Order: sequence, then structure tokens, then C-alpha cells
Amino acid sequence: MKTFRFLGSLLRQRSRTPRCPEEPRLDGRRALVTGGSRGIGYEICRGLLDRGAEVLFTGRSEARAQEACDAFEHREAGTARWVNLDQADLDDVVRGCDSILQILGGRPLDVLVLNAAVYPEPGAVSAQGHELAFAVNVLAPHVLMRRLLAAGALRRGARVVFLVGDPARACRDCEVELGARVRRPAPFAYWRSKLGNFWQAGELQRRHPELQVVTVHPGFVRTGLVSSGWDPLVGPIRKRLLIDAELGAQTPLRGATQPDVNTGSYLHNVLGKVRLDPREPAAREGDAWALWQVLEELAEGWLPKGG
Ligand SMILES: NC(=O)c1ccc[n+]([C@@H]2O[C@H](COP(=O)([O-])OP(=O)(O)OC[C@H]3O[C@@H](n4cnc5c(N)ncnc54)[C@H](OP(=O)(O)O)[C@@H]3O)[C@@H](O)[C@H]2O)c1
Repeated sequence: MKTFRFLGSLLRQRSRTPRCPEEPRLDGRRALVTGGSRGIGYEICRGLLDRGAEVLFTGRSEARAQEACDAFEHREAGTARWVNLDQADLDDVVRGCDSILQILGGRPLDVLVLNAAVYPEPGAVSAQGHELAFAVNVLAPHVLMRRLLAAGALRRGARVVFLVGDPARACRDCEVELGARVRRPAPFAYWRSKLGNFWQAGELQRRHPELQVVTVHPGFVRTGLVSSGWDPLVGPIRKRLLIDAELGAQTPLRGATQPDVNTGSYLHNVLGKVRLDPREPAAREGDAWALWQVLEELAEGWLPKGG
């Protein structure tokens, strides 16, 4: 049944991915998008800027970020600023977060899009020695989010958007070291990290009911992530079936901006608002709680003092 749904949405996604409405305007609103200098994140930034928002975005390459800023400047209504932040190193996450807080100068964010992610080389590890997909896609967002919350940098009612994926719903675990330890092929490490994002989102919503947390499946999108990791799987059908990043950004933009998106919902590019079956791993509250504890322990030295 799941395979059927997965194939169905892949085949129909070009014609069935709705565009995000232009309204509401976001003038005077502030957004942070991680990984905004390319791929889906770049297009999310463009969509937010088009609507008038002030957008901060993170990334690692100054040249890529400069190119993005130049492109934004010529086309969009809002303002964009880049913050250098490498999610593969928690020291850098702390430093980057301090820069973000400095730029914000006490003005809270209305939108946080946790978009940056890596499809890891097998066996790759972070600066702190954790399996890379877990470190970049799960642990680093946890530290960033916790520090922003502790600094009061997310206003009441702020949207927090996690980019996940349907294949992650077929995974059963999101463990810290498995990918690195057993040298499993990269897809498993990547998908597990995305299951971790489902759990993070659920637990964040339970702990912070004042936020509006949304998980989003953007579609199967032709980006650097797909060409680095999925080519063996989808190479021949890539061109025909995958959507471009601009269309792939429409569902995250809906999650970030639209008033009819329910708190805690899973928004799918083709299927719309999807109700997770309480029996499926992505909906398991016990596992979400346990992952949160693991993240707190692993990130202890990088979390804000006293909370
Ligand atoms: N493409 C798909 O079909 C698909 C499907 C479902 C979900 N998603 C999700 O959509 C999101 C965006 O993916 P994408 O397809 O746009 O991928 P992408 O083109 O590869 O972009 C990945 C982004 O993550 C950033 N990033 C990677 N490693 C980083 C690190 N160590 N520190 C900081 N930033 C880092 C990159 O920034 P740099 O410029 O610094 O490299 C880039 O902006 C991801 O969360 C992905 O899991 C994608």
C-alpha cells in the first residue's frame, strides 16, 4: 500500500504539486532558512523574499551565498542576509547562531525553516565524530533550535518547518552511530535522519505548544542532494519524473506561510495534509521523546546554559 502511494505521488507530482498562494504578505516578518544558497532552500528564500520578508539564510560557501544574494537583490522585494554556518561542526553551529542573534538584535523570528541536509558518503562523520547524516540533519538543528528558543528568538506562534521525506516513513530507527559503524549504504543513514526529523518536530510541538511546527514532504526534487545520492536509483527517470527546485519549494512555502496549515501537520506535495497512522514509526511519541533525550545528552556542551 505504501509502495503504491509512493509511486503514485512520484508519477503525478509534476501536475499535482500545488503552488503556494502569494498571500499573505510577509512585510515586516523575519525568517531564517538553513541551507538557503542552493536547492530547495534557495527557492524557499526567494518565495519568502517575494512576499516581502526579511530573510536570513545559512550555508557554508561564501561564493555560493554571494551569488544567491546578488540574484535575490535583483528580483525580490524583501532583504536577504547570509550567515556562515557548518552543521557538521557543533562549535560552528554555536558561532553561527550567535551571529544570527546579533543580526536579529532582539527581534524574534516569525518563520524558521530547517532545510539544510546532507546525503552522506558511507562512513562519513562530523567534527564531533558522529555519523554525518545524523549530525548535520538531526543533531545540529536541535542545537540551533534550542539556542534560538533559549534566546527568545522565536516569537509566539512562529512557524517551524522541517523538510522530511516519504521514504523516511519506511524506516524504523534513527540511531546515532549506526550509519558510521556498519558502513551501511548512504540511503539508510539519510532516511533514518529524516525519520529523526519527524520525531524532532513532534517532540518540539509537544514541548512548545506556542509554536506551529509543520513537517513537509517537498516532493522528489531535482537538486544536488538527489544527483549526489540517488542517481543509481533514479538516474534514468530523473529528468522525466523529478520536479525542479522552484516547484519543490512550494509545499515548504505553504507550510511556512499559509494560515490553513494545521499545527503539527504533515504536508505532502501531492497528497496534501496527511494524517500519520499512529502505528507508523514517524508517529511514535515514545521514540520521539527518547531521541530528544539522546540529542540533549550528545549536545550537552553546546546547549544554552540553564535550559
Ligand atoms: N530533493 C529531494 O527530492 C528531497 C525530498 C525530500 C526531502 N528533501 C529535503 O529537502 C531539504 C533540501 O534538500 P535539497 O534537495 O535542496 O538538497 P541540496 O540541493 O543538496 O541542498 C542542501 C542544502 O543543505 C546545505 N548543507 C549541506 N550540508 C551542510 C552542512 N554541513 N552545513 C550547513 N549546510 C549544509 C547546503 O548548503 P551548502 O551550500 O553549504 O552546501 C544546501 O543549501 C533537505 O532537508 C532534504 O532532506 C529533499
